[in-house]
Amino acid sequence: MKLSVCLCIFALSALSVQAKSVKNAQDTGKVIYCYFESWTVYRPGNGKFDVENIDPNLCTHIAFTFLGLNADGSIHILDPWESDPDGLNGFQRFVALKNQNANLKTIISLGGWNEGSQTYSEVVADATKRSTLVKEVLAFIQKYNFDGFDFDWEYPAKRDSVNPADKENFILMLQELKAAFQPYGYILSAAVNSAKVNIDGSYDVAALSQILDHINIMAYDFHGAFDNYVGHHTLLYSAEIDAQYNNSEWNIDTGVNYWLSQGADPSKINFGIATYARTFTLADATNTSLYAPISGGGTAGPYTRQDGVLGYNEICEAYPNRVDIWDDEQQVPHFVVGNQWIGYDDKKSLGVKVDYALSKNLGGFMVWSFDTDDFTGLCGEGKYPLINTIHTSLAEKGYSLKNNN
Ligand SMILES: *[C@@H]1O[C@H](CO)[C@@H](O)[C@H](O)[C@H]1NC(C)=O
Ligand SMILES: *[C@@H]1O[C@H](CO)[C@@H](O)[C@H](O)[C@H]1NC(C)=O
Repeated sequence: MKLSVCLCIFALSALSVQAKSVKNAQDTGKVIYCYFESWTVYRPGNGKFDVENIDPNLCTHIAFTFLGLNADGSIHILDPWESDPDGLNGFQRFVALKNQNANLKTIISLGGWNEGSQTYSEVVADATKRSTLVKEVLAFIQKYNFDGFDFDWEYPAKRDSVNPADKENFILMLQELKAAFQPYGYILSAAVNSAKVNIDGSYDVAALSQILDHINIMAYDFHGAFDNYVGHHTLLYSAEIDAQYNNSEWNIDTGVNYWLSQGADPSKINFGIATYARTFTLADATNTSLYAPISGGGTAGPYTRQDGVLGYNEICEAYPNRVDIWDDEQQVPHFVVGNQWIGYDDKKSLGVKVDYALSKNLGGFMVWSFDTDDFTGLCGEGKYPLINTIHTSLAEKGYSLKNNN
């Protein structure tokens, strides 16, 4: 009896060791897919960010944002001066980062918030326009030697979209791109909405997951100056107070779980990390709680120059003595200075997010964006303290970066 118990335990543990090592061989290499906002070359002073500020060993994939879409399905370069050989030559300098890291993949991204939804809605509904877009994207990738293409439509069947069939037409569009990319092995990714209530209307999750190499979930911007109250934009979980405002599903965890429950392959999902804060000017500086009334976005910073937003680099430079308040329910920090309420991610909350993504077996992380991390190291935590926290947290858990070769 005793012997058989011992044998049984031995057999079980041998099995579990074997299962673990098989799983690790597949899963230890994680993606870090980082976006470059090309217009940041025009920022002043310490905020000016150019291609050469990108550390080519920080991310496995880097995406240049953005190209624009024309009504006939052709594409245009949003800022020819910044991108083209007769100007600052941004595309070629970007792709040349591969000379410093042969493992790096360079992606060109189409879309973004400012593009709106209407043109996308019209182009994907029309077979001729879709075919024009496929031809133009392929030619663009080949002309500049990118490794792939990212579709950042914000969002199918939302905002100024004109067509509830965007969801199906988006799949047709991506299938046609994928078919054209196949002979060359080009990467196809998309940036997608993370809020549960927005997923069904915009995405055929199972079909997207079949087609795409990467699903970049934008796990941020849940709250901001576009609301009329205080909220944290990267809340991992809802707090008790969220239920009182019917917001208990308005958080990252609910969104990620929904993507997974609808059939997304976890290994294709990159969990979006924001290196910026969403900020508020409190209507009453003594009421600093979630849902407290605001008079508007927080004061603009010197580099991002937009009310309601601050880069981590702007935060650490302007508020070196800030005192973070940790929200145990939402698992994110904020701080308050005078009438300014600033909700962001620090090393602690990023560690929590890395652990979370690992617990869901996600493929890795997406980062928006390089330029608002402390990329010069001016706050004394080294260069890129936030993106490096992803590296450190992964290494602590025995994970490394995906080898793309
Ligand atoms: C929450 O939803 C309930 C039921 O639909 C509604 O009665 C209530 O007014 C809502 N509360 C808020 C704060 O929106
Ligand atoms: C803060 O604002 C919220 C939302 O309006 C309100 O429910 C709460 O009572 C206020 N708290 C204080 C201390 O004024």
